Amino acid sequence: MPTPRTIAIDGPAGAGKSTIGALVAERLGYLYLDTGAMYRAVALAALDRGIDPDDGAKLAELARSVRILIGPPTVRDGRAYTVLLDGRDVTWPIRAAGVDRVVSQVARVPAVRDAMVEQQRALATQGRVVMVGRDIGTIVLPHAERKIFLTASAAERARRREEELAARGEARTRQQLLHEILRRDQLDRERAVAPLKAAQDAVVVQTDGLSVQEALDRVLAVITRPNAPRS
Ligand code: DC
Repeated sequence: MPTPRTIAIDGPAGAGKSTIGALVAERLGYLYLDTGAMYRAVALAALDRGIDPDDGAKLAELARSVRILIGPPTVRDGRAYTVLLDGRDVTWPIRAAGVDRVVSQVARVPAVRDAMVEQQRALATQGRVVMVGRDIGTIVLPHAERKIFLTASAAERARRREEELAARGEARTRQQLLHEILRRDQLDRERAVAPLKAAQDAVVVQTDGLSVQEALDRVLAVITRPNAPRS
């Protein structure tokens, strides 16, 4: 059965999009782009240069001038991809708490989004692609052949994040992580430009209580079935 050319996976922070998206791409042999990594790279660049996350004009200029490249892993240290910011490997620095705190502010600047969306669309013309983010099915690739909205309760997402950080030797309390997730959800859902929401023709996949393998199986089932129902 032919598989769709473009697969959009959206959903809130910590729903498992990056993990599932990377596995889907690997399984199907597609290009993979986690668009959150691009907004994180701009946020990191802003922090490095001391740019105020509320200074839209400076952020816009920055987003247009930095060179962000995302490609296959170059180091075997558990990463799903390598992120280069002006040639520097920032794959792990973009996951730091400082970036978590400012990235939603950076991502709500329209000109920052325009610069990122342009690059995301360009990638989608290069071949079969799995693209993961918040607005892929609604704005970036509205004609994507399959759209999935991957979600989980905030409590479950905080628990996963705690595990993920603990595996990297970083201790943050679940309470603190839950607070951050709820704050980010609110910023992502309520922003004026490209708010987080399921596309009308997306299939919602709830991952509470599912293992990675189970969530992957559900997503692959949606992707490979002949016609995804409209919800
Ligand atoms: O998925 P993530 O947590 O790495 O995303 C980081 C931030 O970027 C998050 O606050 C939402 C934002 N983002 C966005 O606005 N649009 C996307 N397509 C992807 C991420």
